[in-house]
Amino acid sequence: MPLSFSLSHAAPAAVDTPLLVVVLSPASAVPDALLDLDRQLGGAMSRSVSRRDFRGGRDETLLLVGGDAGVQRVLLVGRGAAPLTRTVARRAAAVAARQASKLGVAAMHLMLDGGDADANAVEGLVIGAAAGSWSYLDLQTPPPEKDRRARLEAVTVLAADSEEIRAAFAAGVAVAEGQAIAKRLGQMPGNYCTPDTFVEVGRDIAERHGMALTVLGRAEMTARGMGSFLCVAQGTSQEPRLVTLEHRGGPEGQQPVVLIGKGLCFDTGGISIKPAPEMEWMKFDMSGAGGVMGAMEAIGRLRLPINVVGIIGSTTNMPSGEAVKPGDVVRASNGKTIEIINTDAEGRLVLADLLVYAKQFNPAIAIDAATLTGAIVIGLGHNAVGVFSTDQGAANEVLAAGQAAGEPGWGMPMWEDYREQIKSDVADMKNTGGRAAGSITAALFLQEFVDGFPFVHLDVAGTAYSQSDLGWIPKGPTGTPVGTFVEFVRTRARQ
Ligand code: BES
Ligand code: MN
Ligand code: ZN
Repeated sequence: MPLSFSLSHAAPAAVDTPLLVVVLSPASAVPDALLDLDRQLGGAMSRSVSRRDFRGGRDETLLLVGGDAGVQRVLLVGRGAAPLTRTVARRAAAVAARQASKLGVAAMHLMLDGGDADANAVEGLVIGAAAGSWSYLDLQTPPPEKDRRARLEAVTVLAADSEEIRAAFAAGVAVAEGQAIAKRLGQMPGNYCTPDTFVEVGRDIAERHGMALTVLGRAEMTARGMGSFLCVAQGTSQEPRLVTLEHRGGPEGQQPVVLIGKGLCFDTGGISIKPAPEMEWMKFDMSGAGGVMGAMEAIGRLRLPINVVGIIGSTTNMPSGEAVKPGDVVRASNGKTIEIINTDAEGRLVLADLLVYAKQFNPAIAIDAATLTGAIVIGLGHNAVGVFSTDQGAANEVLAAGQAAGEPGWGMPMWEDYREQIKSDVADMKNTGGRAAGSITAALFLQEFVDGFPFVHLDVAGTAYSQSDLGWIPKGPTGTPVGTFVEFVRTRARQ
């Protein structure tokens, strides 16, 4: 049963709920709006605050037990002293939803302070509640009936009744649903999430939101001369897929925002094979493509009045007797030749042909997301998306979107001097430039395939999934970059 959301402006003491979550800051006394409820609980809330059992620190929780009806439990969740943002609200709601899942309550009500969350906070509460209760259980045998706990199925946000709040709530639900798609695709093992899975998911999104869907396979890509993408798919018998979704929400002729995603359903490294330890994490190498699918879902749900094209390139990087090998030279669909130095630098080879393909849509801007380099994990860790562009204005716009969405990025240099590293003796360029500045040379490689439109590259290798529990969300896929994409497109749609 999927999670359902609703918005209500009922008084907290009047709701009937197994769990009421109240998000508070360290400064908060019990808000006036909760005094009725506090009385119903025999003053437990105000005593917890005055005794400092609950101090409102970030991620702090305190569960209070209520009666058999009305508000049956209250969970106080701290949001810390930092200024209230969408990200702060998201985190608190995620902590609450994780707790609710452990308790086994099927429904929860969520409120911030006295129930006066602003639009940004409402959006964050919805996204956080979805993130904290997300799980992927398809491949696990459920526990015996007696040990089962109810799953969280319904979340109600208590907030003011206004047009702005309703819009923020809808945006939150859309982003949450988009992130659920991206996270599910990310968590699916490589033998379940294949290039054809992207076709199925793309078709489903297209049908529900009235988007045009185009699917290319090996034959169509061969006809288009996509030798760069295709060389990555040489080692697998699986059909590689290039899937395009077109959302035509804007006026006819309006140049679209083009979102591009790397969709490696698994990356073994190919002939330049990766070491065995932790190789299983390379099922997440499709997170860029998952992010594009998730963003298109959200954009479709919100019916944003703007043209957006989503393009994903999906295959699996495998060694085989037929696989591309170091020293081979391939030709991309713009005619440029590439010397393969390392078959593990495959993402840029897929993206090269996608960027050439994007040109036909006459993009207002193209933004790609890719788990492109291990080097970005070394450089920025798991807290920042690597943002690359030769267009500072475009980069700033994407950085602002990522910041607002709680998926912060950091601008990286794209200086010409680095280009020396990808010069080849036999072809127009090499596919790797050595260890130094590995994320930058990857971005400069991509730039070679961009012809006449602003382009921003997002390296999400450190941020699309987490190998450790982050407290507010479990280890696994994070939903990045869905929030950034949706925020960027929403902002453009308002202009
Ligand atoms: N998918 C990987 C990048 C990656 C590495 C993502 C670690 C997440 C964690 C990419 O295809 C890759 O293998 N890149 C190589 C490039 C190198 C051969 C120039 C890398 O980063 O090691
Ligand atoms: Mn690789
Ligand atoms: Zn890869």
